[in-house]
Amino acid sequence: MPEPRGLEDVGFREAVVDLDAITANVRALRELTGTEHFIAVVKANGYGHGAVPAARAALAGGADWLGVAVIGEALELRAAGIDAPILTWLHDPQESFEDALAADVSIGVSRLEQLAAAADAAERAGRPASVQLKLDTGLSRNGLPRPEWDAAFQRAAQLEAAGRIRVAGLFTHLSNASLQDDVDCLDLFDEGVAAARAAGLAPELVHAAASAAAVGQPDARYNCVRIGLAIYGMSPLQQPAAARALGLRPAMTLRGRVANVKRVPAGTAVSYDYTYRTERETTLALVPFGYGDGIPRAASNRGPVWIAGGVHRVAGRVAMDQFVVDVGDSEVAVGDPVVLFGDERDGFPPVEDWAEASGTINWEIVTRVAGRTALRYVGGGDG
Ligand SMILES: Cc1ncc(COP(=O)(O)O)c(C=O)c1O
Repeated sequence: MPEPRGLEDVGFREAVVDLDAITANVRALRELTGTEHFIAVVKANGYGHGAVPAARAALAGGADWLGVAVIGEALELRAAGIDAPILTWLHDPQESFEDALAADVSIGVSRLEQLAAAADAAERAGRPASVQLKLDTGLSRNGLPRPEWDAAFQRAAQLEAAGRIRVAGLFTHLSNASLQDDVDCLDLFDEGVAAARAAGLAPELVHAAASAAAVGQPDARYNCVRIGLAIYGMSPLQQPAAARALGLRPAMTLRGRVANVKRVPAGTAVSYDYTYRTERETTLALVPFGYGDGIPRAASNRGPVWIAGGVHRVAGRVAMDQFVVDVGDSEVAVGDPVVLFGDERDGFPPVEDWAEASGTINWEIVTRVAGRTALRYVGGGDG
């Protein structure tokens, strides 16, 4: 089998992030959704891809806002010189919002106390705070609960009239439990938006759709989408083909080099607890990734790995730093490239196969890649 391209220069343990893919994915999603605004979600270190480079690449593709969970993540983007509008939505209960205001970060409000704190910070700073009211329409996580909406809208309108806040947006987040569940949430959200407008609010941004709804539910798009997973080229349906059909390509390739090779007889036990024994004489290749590098231990005896022109399975337990692959009679040498996941069109396992092998979702697999794994960027992000 011919070796897929791009393996001449593989590091010991690296995640290659194609910034042009992120730029092109945002461009494709922008075209698909057609919304006036596009929030690229780069929380959790840009889903493991690196928040600052991912943000720059997404802005180059036409995102006009960035979304992160916590204010510290927004400050990291500002410190890197990124001046695009940023929304944050998960706050320390002690948060005073002074840093957010100083850095011109829009504050997602999920509790009435946060509205008051943002207004107080604005009073001290002498300029209004940008806030976006998050409405809980079903997830029961963050967001203002339904019984508090009217009070929040009225209070927000008063604070806006007093020049202490500007309500830049109204938003909600969906469960993806089923199409009907999301329709029910959107109906409730519509009521909330209407009530907010009746209270005198005029938000520039109205948004509900993350990747799944942005792609699959046009009614959820309003005038803004808030997309994470899909900008990195993955499908919320856990189907690579669904992402490719939208013109998305995976931005991350996780790869390294074989650290050791052994030819062993039949009956050889492998890794902790001896959960794997070779059935015949075979070759074992040692791969330098473990759960300390985000590889789920749940993928023991299951995870797929490209080595020597073919895809083989993890043999035995994934340990903290390493795991073993039984490659049979394939010719493998120490230092040969291995690819844990990448673009399946190049013959590599897609990240979704690791998700399936681990009983989880593609979001989690890429986001766990961090720490000792070098992030190596290709493409310029202006794609
Ligand atoms: C509030 C909010 N909006 C948007 C997103 C992006 O979601 P996705 O990665 O499914 O596009 C998330 C991610 O969890 C989120 O918490």
